[in-house]
Amino acid sequence: MEKKVSYDAFWMPFTANRNFKADPRIINRAEGMYCYSDNGTQLLDATAGLWCVNAGHGRKEIGEAMAKQVAELDYSSPFNFGHDIGFEFAERLVSFTPPGLNKVFFTNSGSEAVESALKIALAYQQAKGNTGKFKLIGRELGYHGVNFGGISVGGLTPNRKGFGPLLPTDHLSHTLDIANNAFSQGLPEHGVDKAEQLEQLIQFHGADSVAAVIVEPISGAGGVILPPKGYLRRLREICSKHDVVLIFDEVITGWGRLGASFASEAFDVVPDLIT
Ligand SMILES: Cc1ncc(COP(=O)(O)O)c(C=O)c1O
Repeated sequence: MEKKVSYDAFWMPFTANRNFKADPRIINRAEGMYCYSDNGTQLLDATAGLWCVNAGHGRKEIGEAMAKQVAELDYSSPFNFGHDIGFEFAERLVSFTPPGLNKVFFTNSGSEAVESALKIALAYQQAKGNTGKFKLIGRELGYHGVNFGGISVGGLTPNRKGFGPLLPTDHLSHTLDIANNAFSQGLPEHGVDKAEQLEQLIQFHGADSVAAVIVEPISGAGGVILPPKGYLRRLREICSKHDVVLIFDEVITGWGRLGASFASEAFDVVPDLIT
């Protein structure tokens, strides 16, 4: 394909740039569940964008609502000002969240949601007088976005290495166990014992130093890994026992993608924070 624009300046994320730019794959438009490339090829968008276009591409009613709102009020500062739609949306959202999770803090991306959740957890511990609780626990193969907090609790080595000492964290093992769970139907039968590592890590660091644990209820970017039966419930119990904030990173599993509003509802385990 003849290049219509220069591809030099745009530094693409998670992409081998030289390789891509030598033979660009350009998407021109999308409709329903299909994208169309500049040479006219129809592509089934099997991941719905990056799992973020689940309502389908090119939905007229969404486009019209966006255009109407931009024409009426494109932006006003959320610092000491508000618009009714923000409040209305938050109220509607909490009607879908688990009981007790009834406050919404808006962010601009999943990465920012994770940073905010970690900060809220630390601020909560401070406010309670647990001033020594500042360590965070994540899990191997976990993906929590690209910012410093997210890569610290994240468990994907290439995303972490080279960025210095990061935040004070430790990590649970991932729960992938193909040898034992290859023939499980539904959630994996084996692996609930891996949740006991949380008790061990909290004992090792001291409960008075651990602020929060963050996991994806189902690992996404690190390979789609379902939680073993009883695993998330056990994490919940251990966090409650030690006053450790449990964060479910539901950037992928939330918003109805598991058939329930959030994974928390699907697995019947309520964390303290959901991203
Ligand atoms: C579980 C999880 N957390 C956080 C993020 C980061 O979201 P964003 O790409 O919007 O920054 C992702 C992105 O895929 C994700 O899967």
